[in-house]
Amino acid sequence: MNITLIGTGYVGLVTGVCLSLHGNQVICVDNNPKVVEKLQSGICTIYEPGLEKDLQLAIKKKVITFTSNTTEAVQKSEVIFLCLPTPQGEDGSADLSYIVAVTKQIAPYLKDKQIIVNKSTVPVGTGDIIEQMINKVHPNIAFSVVSNPEFLKEGFAVEDFNHPDRVVIGGNQPWALEALTTLYTPFTQNIIKTDRRSSEMIKYAANSFLATKISFMNEIANLCEKVGANVDMVKSGIGSDPRIGSQFLNPGIGYGGSCFPKDVSALISTAYQQQYQFKILDTVNQVNEIQKGLFVSKIAKHFNFNTGGLKLAIWGLTFKKNTDDVRASPTIDIIKSLVRAGFDITAYDPQGMANFKTYLPDIKINYGKTKEECLKAAEGLVILTEWDEFKNVEYEILKKQMKKLVIFDGRNLLDRCECEENGFDYYGVGR
Ligand code: UGA
Repeated sequence: MNITLIGTGYVGLVTGVCLSLHGNQVICVDNNPKVVEKLQSGICTIYEPGLEKDLQLAIKKKVITFTSNTTEAVQKSEVIFLCLPTPQGEDGSADLSYIVAVTKQIAPYLKDKQIIVNKSTVPVGTGDIIEQMINKVHPNIAFSVVSNPEFLKEGFAVEDFNHPDRVVIGGNQPWALEALTTLYTPFTQNIIKTDRRSSEMIKYAANSFLATKISFMNEIANLCEKVGANVDMVKSGIGSDPRIGSQFLNPGIGYGGSCFPKDVSALISTAYQQQYQFKILDTVNQVNEIQKGLFVSKIAKHFNFNTGGLKLAIWGLTFKKNTDDVRASPTIDIIKSLVRAGFDITAYDPQGMANFKTYLPDIKINYGKTKEECLKAAEGLVILTEWDEFKNVEYEILKKQMKKLVIFDGRNLLDRCECEENGFDYYGVGR
């Protein structure tokens, strides 16, 4: 199939590369010529394990090209994917300006039997808006607007795309759903066909449910600390019930990233517009905010709130491991609070330092070139992201470098007993 993807962020680029390596001819569009140039020369603009290798293979096979010329790309394709950002607006709702602008731009160039597939996370009813906008320009062509939410996790996106647990496609025209079924059949047999509004809702419901699971576990963990229970054991005790499931039960410093916080807020906002208060999600949000503060309090309390000028080493800045993404990372609020409390911070992250510096240029922290470098004279080590390289701790190096032996483990990454056997005070979450 000839396919165009508009937007080469995490979703667009991964989708484009993976589809191109499964028998399709793909054009990826980005309005930034520098991004286009980089991608065309085989350099990945995002950090995503395995993606650059596949990108280079696709370029070599001549099954993918990159351009800034949206209209030309659209005219050459049967299927047009919208992979555009829908950032959080000021009132918490999703900002649809990119979707609206691109729809306006492409509408005059659309022809019969073209399928516009919306992969961006959009409020229920957005497909109708896109359809109406195109209908205004072209009342007589038989096009189709389909919702196809994506469920990729950053850091595992290529794997998730190639082996999805399900693909959801929502629309009204059988011919369009058939075409997309053919497109996705090489990846999975589990293709769920719905109406368009249900498909749009599935995306928000999935992310909000996962966020709810995390906030729930964070509250269980907080209570475990108070009653002397161990959340690790609680996790395996409840996670082996298939009705609950073992994934997304890790407590920590709260969820972050470009999706959960924004999507929870957008669903609350959708409910509000319908005069419905989504009480659970209001609380999920609040718990997530409180969780960051609780972790900071734990650190401050250890030092009896005499935090002025104390050196802290921070391991981890990204919102989770295997990504360079720091958007809405809980590390941002935590580090801001620590700096405000007077701590002198030196941080290290395997992939996220460059992004963190550009996101937070005003925050005065130091950066270490290695995880060891930032330990020098530290009064404590704070782990904020669960990178594998932080798991294998060489305690002797820590002891040599650090002034005081205490670890605040925001991801329950380390073994508490091992830390204590090595002479460290250990603070986890719910253990
Ligand atoms: C999330 C969803 O998992 C994807 O299915 C979805 O496609 C994507 O959003 C999206 O809408 O684009 P992602 O944001 O990449 O994916 O990250 P997750 O792996 O879901 O993690 C989100 C946050 O929750 C991270 O901060 C992570 O550390 C936190 N988390 C996750 C926990 O605190 N505990 C857990 O048990 C799991």
